[in-house]
Amino acid sequence: MEITKICCIGAGYVGGPTMAVIAQKCPHLKITVVDLNQERIDAWNDENTDNIPIFEPGLSSVVAETRGKNLFFSNDVEKAIEEAQIIFISVNTPTKTYGKGKGMAADLKYIELCARQIAKVAKDNKIVVEKSTLPVRTAEAIKSILDNTGNGVQFQILSNPEFLAEGTAISDLLNPDRILIGGDQTPEGQKAIQALVDIYANWVPQDKILTTNVWSSELSKLTANAFLAQRISSINALSELCEKTGADINEVARAIGMDTRIGSKFLKASVGFGGSCFKKDILNLVYIAKSYGLNETADYWEQVIIMNDHQKKRFADKIVKTLYNTVAGKKITFLGWAFKKDTNDTRESAAIYIADDLINEQAGICVYDPKVNQKKILADLDYLETRSAAENAKSTKSFENPYDACQGAHAIAVLTEWEEFVDYDWQRIYDAMQKPAFVFDGRNILNKTEMQKIGFVYQAIGS
Ligand code: NAD
Ligand code: UGA
Repeated sequence: MEITKICCIGAGYVGGPTMAVIAQKCPHLKITVVDLNQERIDAWNDENTDNIPIFEPGLSSVVAETRGKNLFFSNDVEKAIEEAQIIFISVNTPTKTYGKGKGMAADLKYIELCARQIAKVAKDNKIVVEKSTLPVRTAEAIKSILDNTGNGVQFQILSNPEFLAEGTAISDLLNPDRILIGGDQTPEGQKAIQALVDIYANWVPQDKILTTNVWSSELSKLTANAFLAQRISSINALSELCEKTGADINEVARAIGMDTRIGSKFLKASVGFGGSCFKKDILNLVYIAKSYGLNETADYWEQVIIMNDHQKKRFADKIVKTLYNTVAGKKITFLGWAFKKDTNDTRESAAIYIADDLINEQAGICVYDPKVNQKKILADLDYLETRSAAENAKSTKSFENPYDACQGAHAIAVLTEWEEFVDYDWQRIYDAMQKPAFVFDGRNILNKTEMQKIGFVYQAIGS
């Protein structure tokens, strides 16, 4: 089968950037990204590529270069499926909020809808690629739906999980550590694998393209996220011990990270990891293990989540305790709301949970984030359903300027590691705050000595 047209279902944080990079590197392919969300598609098609729905360094210029040439965003899902030889499924796979597996298992309803739509529309043979992160053995369910259409169309299902991190998506896509492709071991399966390998080979060295069976590929994605998150929970667990003993977590991380067997990356102590995937993917892994009766395995990985929840909670508790055991009526300013720097994504951001705890203590929360607006902040708080939307709106206010946000504050909490925070005029901020002026650095990005010299009561994580 000659590959000339690709379709991607889901124009989100993965579908959009991934397809933009494939379009840039494969000018001979026509790529259509489709989504049911009209507003999102309209934003991807905005004349000004600075208004595309995802903020990601370097993305808008790749879109500007390719859109309308070989990259298209559309809500005509059926047409795009019908004409493509390869269909990527890149829809969301959130944690189930109802029924069996509620709060643990991945909700596969969007995946199943995609499979049914492909089954309905396809008139010729297709390669269907799982780009979304899925429980191991999902390909079996997709295959069963696709193979029972009775129209004689042959489908090959590949697993091709995405390992990009937000904030560095474009460089991760351009220079991936590896590309993983899982497929059937049959001759047809191998041909499908090769078709996908040929696409990536346009810019990724062959030795970085791994091919495996489908189940290994599906499970490797959950495993990679579990390992990454586990490193953060491990260092965060020790940050609390550092605070008790006089050790400094940054020094400990450096000392152990220089051991090449451990490695230096992903050892940054923080207020707790956020993002749309770590928690959901580990819960999913825990659920799968439990469903096979592997309770020790399930408990082992669940501890990563328990530790992360504890790290967020103890940060909020520390603020209350340090501010003389009451924050009622006090103004606490958050620098940062996104779950990490260089993204406008706030899903599962630690800031949401810390704000929620502090509002319970009747604090007033002021926020400055360079890429997140008031509407999003309130929507994140409302989603928790802790209190009414009106109460959230009364307790939370976002600002366009960091100095206005910090004016008159009793304390500042640094919750995202945006680089600009380091360069602020901290003397000016100090002068405009209530005294004593407290700073709780949830990202360990500010210089302790300089902050103390200005007069701040400065507390970092793990020292
Ligand atoms: P997202 O919510 O940003 O985007 C998913 C999109 O799919 C939404 O715009 C939604 O409207 C659309 N959609 C859902 N059902 C649809 C349907 N039937 N037809 C058409 N469109 C439909 O999600 P995301 O962050 O891009 O994540 C997608 C998948 O990739 C998830 O499984 C996630 O675990 C995985 N993943 C995410 C990241 C990341 O950094 N965000 C990285 C690697 C893997
Ligand atoms: C993560 C993985 O890094 C990607 O490989 C994976 O593809 C993706 O999840 C996914 O499946 O969604 P992402 O969540 O976008 O990517 O960002 P990370 O850089 O992993 O950061 C996650 C969270 O951990 C952030 O809140 C970050 O601030 C925090 N973190 C990260 C730390 O607290 N310490 C660290 O040392 C590293």
